[in-house]
Amino acid sequence: MSWEASLPSLWQRVWDELEQGVCVAAHPARRPTFATISADGPALRTVVLRGIDRQSCTFEVHTDTASRKIAEVRTDPRVGAHVWLPEIALQIRLWAIAEVTEADPNRWSKIPPKSQIVYGGSPTPGTPISEPRDHTPGATIERFATLTCRVTRADIVHLGQDLHRRAVYEAPDWSGQWVAP
Ligand SMILES: Cc1cc2nc3c(=O)[nH]c(=O)nc-3n(C[C@H](O)[C@H](O)[C@H](O)COP(=O)(O)O)c2cc1C
Repeated sequence: MSWEASLPSLWQRVWDELEQGVCVAAHPARRPTFATISADGPALRTVVLRGIDRQSCTFEVHTDTASRKIAEVRTDPRVGAHVWLPEIALQIRLWAIAEVTEADPNRWSKIPPKSQIVYGGSPTPGTPISEPRDHTPGATIERFATLTCRVTRADIVHLGQDLHRRAVYEAPDWSGQWVAP
């Protein structure tokens, strides 16, 4: 039986692919679209998937504490993530609750110095500047934040040659439910 044909194997494949996204730089799950709720409506941006934990159904994103998404999460912790995997025709949509951890020294020490410079810098993200060189990057652990996102719901679509399949999975049992595509 193929992986997309049963609810448990489809769910397992979702987490296998997310794990690949964490480990393999070129994998399409590496760069999900990450959504927050802003005062202006939905706010979307690309991020790097930094970690997953399939037992707790969480995923992790790193960001600058001064970025808009942190203010948005502090106001409303509901977030979303979207991944499209063209080679296996799979769409993953996740709803989650985000928790902010600031300046974690363990995670910080694992980031190469050339990558640490995206957390910090002056002026802060989104500040108007006269031209691009008017921004100075800087590695500042106090500006390094981890968003640990606890998934509460997932909506999965597989575009098979014979059949389009769609399933919704919800906490806490994650048994899944087929729905019309
Ligand atoms: C390929 C790619 C990967 C990115 N990865 C991250 C990331 O992991 N964390 C992050 O905060 N911003 C990342 N960004 C920048 C965001 O897309 C966004 O521009 C920035 O975080 C500001 O978003 P905000 O103002 O909505 O907070 C990435 C951008 C691109 C194009």
